[in-house]
Amino acid sequence: MSAGNAGKQRAAEAALAHVVRGSIVGVGTGSTVNFFIDGLGRMRDAIRGAVSSSSASTARLEALGIEVMDLNHTGTLDLYVDGADEATRDRYLVKGGGAALTREKIVAAASKQFVCIVDDSKLVPVLGRFPLPIEVIPMARSYVAREIVARGGQPVWREHCVTDNGNQILDVHGFEILDPPSLERDLNQIAGVVTVGLFAQRPADLLIVGSGNGVTVI
Ligand code: 5RP
Repeated sequence: MSAGNAGKQRAAEAALAHVVRGSIVGVGTGSTVNFFIDGLGRMRDAIRGAVSSSSASTARLEALGIEVMDLNHTGTLDLYVDGADEATRDRYLVKGGGAALTREKIVAAASKQFVCIVDDSKLVPVLGRFPLPIEVIPMARSYVAREIVARGGQPVWREHCVTDNGNQILDVHGFEILDPPSLERDLNQIAGVVTVGLFAQRPADLLIVGSGNGVTVI
């Protein structure tokens, strides 16, 4: 196993300790979360089910015999576990590399505790090296792109990518994100933006960073 995958797996295994017995678990999307889902599969008799943030995670959960529930029927969740494309020590995140950012933000918002799991390559001093994903309503794509250029970013349309919500993604290069909550607030105001992949107004509550040597909890 590569060092990156070992870190992802270690972080995911550490997150399993936060799962409340008899609860419904919020589950994110991506290769790190896939290790968490595999662990949940081993303890599926100890949980009631899961709320999933993507069709990909839903398929993996169901294949392991875990019931996937509708967030409209579950109420507030105790725990949401998800990965990230970049994370800071303030627990601000860039997410959306897997195009699941909108449902991820919804499930994070509806959960008491958000535990983010990453390998140590994702930890950065300043967000922005990873292009910031923004989900947009298709007819607004060019308008939103112009608004982003006006703010100093370089948007690139993620062609052939349609989100689970039928929308499109712009990946924004060139932002040095020194004030994540304020940029998130500003970009959220642009008409046609569905979700900004910055998780700063609701950051992770706990960041578990896995490496070749072990885990660090921030
Ligand atoms: C999906 C995400 C993922 O959490 C993010 O892309 C990290 O993925 P991985 O664990 O595969 O590196 O935000 O929309």
